[in-house]
Amino acid sequence: MNFHVLTLFPEMIRQGLSASITGRALEKGILQLNTVDIRDFSENKHNRVDDYPYGGGAGMVMAPGPVVRAYRSVKERIEAEDKKTTRVIYLTPQGKVFDQSMAEELSKEENLIFLCGHYEGIDERALEMIVTDNISIGDYVLTGGEIPAMVMIDAISRLVPGVLNNETSAEFETFQDNLLEYPQYTRPEEFEGKKVPEVLLSGHHAKIEEWRREQSLLRTLKNRPDMLKKAVLTEKEKRFLHT
Ligand code: ADE
Repeated sequence: MNFHVLTLFPEMIRQGLSASITGRALEKGILQLNTVDIRDFSENKHNRVDDYPYGGGAGMVMAPGPVVRAYRSVKERIEAEDKKTTRVIYLTPQGKVFDQSMAEELSKEENLIFLCGHYEGIDERALEMIVTDNISIGDYVLTGGEIPAMVMIDAISRLVPGVLNNETSAEFETFQDNLLEYPQYTRPEEFEGKKVPEVLLSGHHAKIEEWRREQSLLRTLKNRPDMLKKAVLTEKEKRFLHT
Protein backbone atom coordinates (compact mmCIF):
# COMPACT_ATOMS: atom_id res chain seq x y z
CA MET A 1 0.00 0.00 0.00
CA ASN A 2 1.38 3.39 -1.01
CA PHE A 3 0.53 6.58 0.88
CA HIS A 4 1.35 9.88 -0.80
CA VAL A 5 1.04 12.96 1.37
CA LEU A 6 1.03 16.50 -0.05
CA THR A 7 2.01 18.80 2.80
CA LEU A 8 3.99 21.85 3.87
CA PHE A 9 5.39 19.80 6.78
CA PRO A 10 6.70 16.50 5.39
CA GLU A 11 8.93 15.93 8.44
CA MET A 12 5.91 15.88 10.72
CA ILE A 13 4.37 13.05 8.72
CA ARG A 14 7.58 11.05 8.39
CA GLN A 15 8.41 11.33 12.07
CA GLY A 16 4.88 10.64 13.19
CA LEU A 17 4.67 7.37 11.29
CA SER A 18 8.25 6.17 11.81
CA ALA A 19 7.68 4.56 15.25
CA SER A 20 6.01 1.34 16.34
CA ILE A 21 3.78 -0.69 14.01
CA THR A 22 3.62 1.72 11.06
CA GLY A 23 7.38 2.26 11.33
CA ARG A 24 8.06 -1.47 11.13
CA ALA A 25 5.68 -1.93 8.19
CA LEU A 26 7.45 0.92 6.36
CA GLU A 27 10.84 -0.69 7.03
CA LYS A 28 9.55 -4.04 5.77
CA GLY A 29 8.13 -2.38 2.66
CA ILE A 30 4.55 -3.53 3.32
CA LEU A 31 3.72 0.17 3.41
CA GLN A 32 5.36 2.98 1.49
CA LEU A 33 5.25 6.62 2.40
CA ASN A 34 5.90 9.31 -0.18
CA THR A 35 5.82 12.79 1.32
CA VAL A 36 5.66 15.64 -1.18
CA ASP A 37 6.59 19.14 -0.02
CA ILE A 38 4.11 21.55 -1.57
CA ARG A 39 6.63 24.37 -1.11
CA ASP A 40 8.92 22.72 -3.68
CA PHE A 41 6.24 23.57 -6.27
CA SER A 42 6.11 27.29 -5.52
CA GLU A 43 7.18 29.41 -8.50
CA ASN A 44 7.57 32.44 -6.28
CA LYS A 45 11.12 33.67 -5.67
CA HIS A 46 10.53 33.65 -1.91
CA ASN A 47 8.94 30.17 -2.11
CA ARG A 48 5.64 31.53 -0.87
CA VAL A 49 2.68 29.22 -1.05
CA ASP A 50 -0.02 31.38 0.57
CA ASP A 51 -1.68 34.72 -0.06
CA TYR A 52 -4.40 37.05 1.26
CA PRO A 53 -8.01 35.92 0.80
CA TYR A 54 -10.05 37.65 -1.92
CA GLY A 55 -12.95 39.45 -0.28
CA GLY A 56 -10.93 40.05 2.89
CA GLY A 57 -10.97 38.26 6.22
CA ALA A 58 -8.48 36.83 8.65
CA GLY A 59 -5.58 34.54 7.79
CA MET A 60 -3.98 33.37 4.60
CA VAL A 61 -5.10 30.95 1.92
CA MET A 62 -2.88 28.37 0.20
CA ALA A 63 -2.58 29.30 -3.48
CA PRO A 64 -3.84 26.82 -6.09
CA GLY A 65 -0.67 26.62 -8.22
CA PRO A 66 1.75 24.83 -5.87
CA VAL A 67 -0.97 22.42 -4.68
CA VAL A 68 -2.07 21.40 -8.18
CA ARG A 69 1.52 21.07 -9.42
CA ALA A 70 2.46 18.94 -6.38
CA TYR A 71 -0.54 16.73 -7.07
CA ARG A 72 0.28 16.32 -10.76
CA SER A 73 3.84 15.32 -9.91
CA VAL A 74 2.57 12.24 -8.08
CA LYS A 75 -0.59 11.49 -10.01
CA GLU A 76 1.05 10.83 -13.36
CA ARG A 77 3.60 8.48 -11.88
CA ILE A 78 1.01 6.48 -9.92
CA GLU A 79 -1.60 6.22 -12.61
CA ALA A 80 0.92 5.05 -15.20
CA GLU A 81 1.53 1.99 -13.00
CA ASP A 82 -1.79 1.52 -11.23
CA LYS A 83 -3.99 2.30 -14.29
CA LYS A 84 -6.73 3.55 -11.98
CA THR A 85 -7.75 7.00 -10.80
CA THR A 86 -6.19 7.51 -7.42
CA ARG A 87 -8.42 8.89 -4.70
CA VAL A 88 -7.34 12.26 -3.34
CA ILE A 89 -8.36 12.83 0.26
CA TYR A 90 -8.54 16.38 1.53
CA LEU A 91 -8.44 16.60 5.33
CA THR A 92 -10.94 19.20 6.44
CA PRO A 93 -13.39 19.73 9.30
CA GLN A 94 -15.98 20.29 6.53
CA GLY A 95 -15.65 16.69 5.36
CA LYS A 96 -17.50 13.47 6.04
CA VAL A 97 -16.53 12.08 9.46
CA PHE A 98 -13.97 9.27 9.24
CA ASP A 99 -14.94 5.90 10.70
CA GLN A 100 -13.86 2.24 10.71
CA SER A 101 -15.93 1.32 7.66
CA MET A 102 -14.19 4.06 5.65
CA ALA A 103 -10.81 2.75 6.87
CA GLU A 104 -11.80 -0.73 5.66
CA GLU A 105 -12.86 0.51 2.25
CA LEU A 106 -9.73 2.63 1.78
CA SER A 107 -7.42 -0.21 2.90
CA LYS A 108 -8.27 -1.98 -0.37
CA GLU A 109 -6.70 0.76 -2.52
CA GLU A 110 -3.20 0.38 -3.90
CA ASN A 111 -2.44 4.12 -3.67
CA LEU A 112 -3.96 6.98 -1.72
CA ILE A 113 -3.11 10.67 -1.94
CA PHE A 114 -3.67 12.85 1.13
CA LEU A 115 -3.79 16.63 0.83
CA CYS A 116 -3.03 18.58 4.00
CA GLY A 117 -4.10 22.20 4.26
CA HIS A 118 -2.83 24.87 6.62
CA TYR A 119 -3.74 28.45 7.50
CA GLU A 120 -7.32 29.24 6.48
CA GLY A 121 -7.43 26.45 3.89
CA ILE A 122 -6.72 25.96 0.21
CA ASP A 123 -8.02 27.92 -2.79
CA GLU A 124 -11.35 26.27 -3.70
CA ARG A 125 -10.43 25.92 -7.39
CA ALA A 126 -7.52 23.60 -6.59
CA LEU A 127 -9.81 21.51 -4.39
CA GLU A 128 -12.45 21.30 -7.15
CA MET A 129 -9.80 20.16 -9.60
CA ILE A 130 -8.13 17.40 -7.63
CA VAL A 131 -10.05 16.24 -4.52
CA THR A 132 -12.26 13.13 -4.64
CA ASP A 133 -13.02 12.78 -0.88
CA ASN A 134 -13.36 15.45 1.81
CA ILE A 135 -12.76 13.82 5.19
CA SER A 136 -12.84 15.12 8.78
CA ILE A 137 -11.53 13.14 11.75
CA GLY A 138 -14.07 14.67 14.13
CA ASP A 139 -15.96 17.76 15.13
CA TYR A 140 -13.08 19.94 16.28
CA VAL A 141 -10.67 22.21 14.44
CA LEU A 142 -6.96 21.42 14.26
CA THR A 143 -4.16 23.67 12.97
CA GLY A 144 -3.64 21.61 9.84
CA GLY A 145 -4.37 18.38 8.02
CA GLU A 146 -1.15 16.55 8.98
CA ILE A 147 -2.36 14.97 12.21
CA PRO A 148 -5.69 13.95 10.60
CA ALA A 149 -3.75 12.39 7.68
CA MET A 150 -1.63 10.43 10.18
CA VAL A 151 -4.74 9.30 12.03
CA MET A 152 -6.22 7.98 8.80
CA ILE A 153 -2.98 6.37 7.63
CA ASP A 154 -2.61 4.61 10.99
CA ALA A 155 -6.20 3.29 10.96
CA ILE A 156 -5.92 2.13 7.33
CA SER A 157 -2.44 0.61 7.74
CA ARG A 158 -3.40 -1.81 10.48
CA LEU A 159 -5.99 -3.33 8.13
CA VAL A 160 -3.40 -4.02 5.43
CA PRO A 161 -2.43 -7.72 5.53
CA GLY A 162 0.96 -8.26 7.20
CA VAL A 163 1.04 -4.96 9.10
CA LEU A 164 -0.15 -6.43 12.39
CA ASN A 165 1.85 -9.39 13.70
CA ASN A 166 -1.18 -11.48 14.24
CA GLU A 167 -3.45 -10.95 11.28
CA THR A 168 -6.52 -11.94 13.19
CA SER A 169 -5.97 -9.26 15.80
CA ALA A 170 -7.74 -6.66 13.66
CA GLU A 171 -10.73 -8.95 13.33
CA PHE A 172 -12.35 -9.12 16.73
CA GLU A 173 -12.17 -5.67 18.13
CA THR A 174 -13.96 -2.46 18.82
CA PHE A 175 -16.48 -1.53 16.11
CA GLN A 176 -16.52 -5.01 14.63
CA ASP A 177 -20.10 -5.71 15.74
CA ASN A 178 -20.91 -2.12 16.57
CA LEU A 179 -19.95 -2.93 20.15
CA LEU A 180 -17.03 -1.64 22.20
CA GLU A 181 -14.35 -4.09 23.27
CA TYR A 182 -14.37 -5.92 26.61
CA PRO A 183 -11.71 -5.11 29.26
CA GLN A 184 -8.35 -6.93 29.19
CA TYR A 185 -6.13 -8.04 32.09
CA THR A 186 -2.66 -9.49 32.43
CA ARG A 187 -0.41 -10.51 35.33
CA PRO A 188 -0.24 -9.93 38.28
CA GLU A 189 -3.46 -11.56 39.42
CA GLU A 190 -3.75 -8.91 42.13
CA PHE A 191 -2.48 -5.34 41.70
CA GLU A 192 -2.60 -2.91 44.64
CA GLY A 193 -5.54 -4.81 46.06
CA LYS A 194 -7.45 -5.00 42.76
CA LYS A 195 -8.13 -8.51 41.50
CA VAL A 196 -8.55 -9.86 37.99
CA PRO A 197 -12.21 -10.94 37.52
CA GLU A 198 -12.55 -14.51 38.80
CA VAL A 199 -14.15 -15.88 35.63
CA LEU A 200 -11.01 -15.14 33.56
CA LEU A 201 -8.99 -17.49 35.79
CA SER A 202 -11.58 -20.27 35.57
CA GLY A 203 -10.43 -21.77 32.27
CA HIS A 204 -14.11 -22.13 31.39
CA HIS A 205 -14.18 -20.85 27.82
CA ALA A 206 -17.93 -20.58 27.36
CA LYS A 207 -18.27 -18.65 30.62
CA ILE A 208 -15.40 -16.35 29.63
CA GLU A 209 -17.01 -15.63 26.26
CA GLU A 210 -20.33 -14.88 27.93
CA TRP A 211 -18.70 -12.54 30.45
CA ARG A 212 -16.79 -10.71 27.70
CA ARG A 213 -19.91 -10.25 25.62
CA GLU A 214 -21.76 -8.84 28.65
CA GLN A 215 -18.91 -6.44 29.36
CA SER A 216 -18.99 -5.29 25.74
CA LEU A 217 -22.71 -4.67 25.95
CA LEU A 218 -22.47 -2.78 29.25
CA ARG A 219 -19.60 -0.61 28.03
CA THR A 220 -21.37 0.24 24.84
CA LEU A 221 -24.55 1.11 26.75
CA LYS A 222 -22.58 3.37 29.09
CA ASN A 223 -20.21 5.12 26.66
CA ARG A 224 -21.73 4.80 23.19
CA PRO A 225 -25.46 4.07 23.41
CA ASP A 226 -25.79 5.43 19.84
CA MET A 227 -23.87 2.38 18.58
CA LEU A 228 -26.36 -0.10 20.02
CA LYS A 229 -28.91 0.81 17.35
CA LYS A 230 -26.68 -0.82 14.74
CA ALA A 231 -25.52 -3.79 16.85
CA VAL A 232 -27.00 -7.22 16.18
CA LEU A 233 -28.28 -8.49 19.55
CA THR A 234 -30.13 -11.62 20.63
CA GLU A 235 -33.47 -11.26 22.43
CA LYS A 236 -31.74 -12.34 25.64
CA GLU A 237 -29.12 -9.62 25.20
CA LYS A 238 -31.78 -6.98 24.60
CA ARG A 239 -33.51 -8.01 27.84
CA PHE A 240 -30.16 -7.96 29.67
CA LEU A 241 -29.59 -4.35 28.58
CA HIS A 242 -33.05 -3.29 29.66
CA THR A 243 -32.66 -4.54 33.22
N1 ADE B 1 -8.10 20.05 9.59
C1 ADE B 1 -8.37 20.81 10.67
N2 ADE B 1 -9.21 20.19 11.49
C2 ADE B 1 -9.50 18.98 10.94
C3 ADE B 1 -10.32 17.87 11.29
N3 ADE B 1 -11.04 17.87 12.41
N4 ADE B 1 -10.36 16.82 10.48
C4 ADE B 1 -9.65 16.81 9.33
N5 ADE B 1 -8.88 17.82 8.93
C5 ADE B 1 -8.78 18.90 9.72
